[in-house]
Amino acid sequence: MSQSSSTAIIGEDPAPPASRTVIVGLGYVGLPLAVRAVEVGHHVVGLDVDAERVKRLLSGESYVEDVPAERLAAVVATGRFEPTIDADDCTGFDVAVITVPTPLREGLPEMRHIEEAARLLGAHLRPGATVVLESTTYPGTTEELVATILEQTSGLRAGVDFHLGYSPERIDPGNPQWHLENTPKVVSGIDDASLAAVRAFYDTVVDTTVPVGSPQVAELAKLLENTFRHVNIALINELAVFARELGIDIWEAVDAAATKPYGFMKFTPGPGVGGHCLPIDPSYLSWRVKRATGRVFRFVELANDINDHMPDYVVRRLIEGLNRRGRPVNGSQILLLGLAYKRNTGDARESPAIRVIELLTGLGAFVSAVDPHVVEAHVDRRVRRTQLTAAEVARADAVVLLTDHDSLDVDVVVREARYVLDCRRMLAPASTVEVL
Ligand SMILES: NC(=O)c1ccc[n+]([C@@H]2O[C@H](COP(=O)([O-])OP(=O)(O)OC[C@H]3O[C@@H](n4cnc5c(N)ncnc54)[C@H](O)[C@@H]3O)[C@@H](O)[C@H]2O)c1
Repeated sequence: MSQSSSTAIIGEDPAPPASRTVIVGLGYVGLPLAVRAVEVGHHVVGLDVDAERVKRLLSGESYVEDVPAERLAAVVATGRFEPTIDADDCTGFDVAVITVPTPLREGLPEMRHIEEAARLLGAHLRPGATVVLESTTYPGTTEELVATILEQTSGLRAGVDFHLGYSPERIDPGNPQWHLENTPKVVSGIDDASLAAVRAFYDTVVDTTVPVGSPQVAELAKLLENTFRHVNIALINELAVFARELGIDIWEAVDAAATKPYGFMKFTPGPGVGGHCLPIDPSYLSWRVKRATGRVFRFVELANDINDHMPDYVVRRLIEGLNRRGRPVNGSQILLLGLAYKRNTGDARESPAIRVIELLTGLGAFVSAVDPHVVEAHVDRRVRRTQLTAAEVARADAVVLLTDHDSLDVDVVVREARYVLDCRRMLAPASTVEVL
């Protein structure tokens, strides 16, 4: 669907201020959007395939930390939020937003969720409606994949009978300063009328919209943002390994570099990357580049390689630290602080902690973990979940601080631990504390 191939949509006012909105996929991205959309006056049908999630939402229970239960309850109480697993509830929508997962399967983009969402929306699409894809994906998805499925299932034509666009989500779970409303949102459409409709909807939801010329630009912008972070984290992680071998404190060097008021952005070493974005999104871009040009996007491959190996480095450093204390890792009690990939969030998807647990249990260590934010019991059955107490810290041969949650009682760790490997430089300096 190129901009030039489409014509304006038959005289409907795009995305009226209070629309019937469908949000497909009520996760970290979809739920905050649904809540916000209800708050600004839309009627929102929230469609998810997970019946348990829908049940929890109907009873006012939130599973996304950025949506507090009180806020959700207020939204449910309006009567304008309909969480459902029934696709027929989507009938008659004005605006539909797709916020389903885009994982990797055997290293390749897994488009199944987007395809399913597009199919079910196509079955309920009516002339004049607007469909927006928000899931992070490779450039070309909206115009090549989503448009085609919507057209085939609805019998309508994108850009002629309905509006279509892409607007990447920039949600940063756990960030107290930047949230959906005040983070500028990139918006795009397959033609001018689609862009106007997409923008009109998001103008009701966020403070600032940033229009761009095509969905491909918006798709690439999102991947650029995440690839930028991924590559820079990899740079600092690799430098951290070398700096240690050179006997230089990388953390002090990073702090010093960060005093430069321009041309430098601070990234710090860590145990690796996790979540739904950095371990996955750059691979969507490299896959697209490879498929379209036959060439390898070397920065992404290199960053993947470095960041993927950070958990191995953490375990190697731990083994060395234990060895210096005359202990083999086999049979040692290791206490992990933090399972989430990111501070102050409960998201343990793709978390480096999972690989650390695999490696340590494979070496015969007994692994316990503290993370009050991560509620899923099934992070790894080999790990014993516990609380951060003086007794737990004291009984551990080594403590590994993987996630710098504000809620961690760092004093008890420094006071009681025999040996800590602090992967986030969160703890005060002490003879028992070693920084990654
Ligand atoms: N989590 C983040 O911080 C973040 C930030 C920006 C962008 N994104 C992107 O947003 C998209 C969604 O990510 P998320 O973190 O919200 O995922 P999530 O796993 O938290 O939520 C996705 C939801 O979609 C549901 N779902 C899956 N298939 C479905 C289908 N066919 N129909 C209806 N519901 C379906 C799942 O049950 C789940 O509740 C991804 O593309 C991701 O890359 C995520």
